[in-house]
Amino acid sequence: MSLRFIGAFLRSPSTVGAIWPSSPALAEEMVRSADLTAARCLVELGPGTGVFTKKIAATLPPGTRFAAIERDATLARQVADRFPGVHVIAGCATEISRHLREASLPSPDAILSGLPWAAFPESLQTRILGEIYNTLQPGGTFATFAYYGPHRLKSGRRFSDNLKNVFSSVEKSRLVLGNFPPAFVYRCKR
Ligand SMILES: C[S@@+](CC[C@H](N)C(=O)[O-])C[C@H]1O[C@@H](n2cnc3c(N)ncnc32)[C@H](O)[C@@H]1O
Repeated sequence: MSLRFIGAFLRSPSTVGAIWPSSPALAEEMVRSADLTAARCLVELGPGTGVFTKKIAATLPPGTRFAAIERDATLARQVADRFPGVHVIAGCATEISRHLREASLPSPDAILSGLPWAAFPESLQTRILGEIYNTLQPGGTFATFAYYGPHRLKSGRRFSDNLKNVFSSVEKSRLVLGNFPPAFVYRCKR
């Protein structure tokens, strides 16, 4: 699993943005923060090797539609092979609504992200956050994570400010020490 992740990092360090995949403990906190119990449709952005995908798929209520959008075509194929029940789209998070429309999927109740925000220029962050907000159902939830420590740096504060500018509420989860590096989840409401 980690070799696949490292392979993806070596193919494209600036879009993968991390050398190590997230832990099952962080996946659990992401799923808890997004509260999927009543979700009818859910979207994951940047599934990578599928750490969050595995936890989401195991948690979703029966009948919930689940799409994952992954920019790296090799990773997208691997996630699709591993999770046949997930509608995996090899595409970009800047075009969530177009991808969902083309797949005849409804507007999601929740979007979970493993995207490497710190590796993105501010213009791309703003564009993707706007796309997430516009695609979510009113009252829908967006969950994403940040590493503890870097969140206090200029780029981390800028990301947190961007979230607060876009969403009507932004909360932070407890610290997940079982992740390397320790991380927390931002839970944002449309
Ligand atoms: C750090 S990995 C996260 C993987 C996994 N969710 C985790 O937390 O371990 C980031 C993933 O986002 C994907 N990605 C980067 N930019 C993207 C974009 N604009 N649209 C969709 N996926 C993107 C990368 O290819 C990579 O697989």
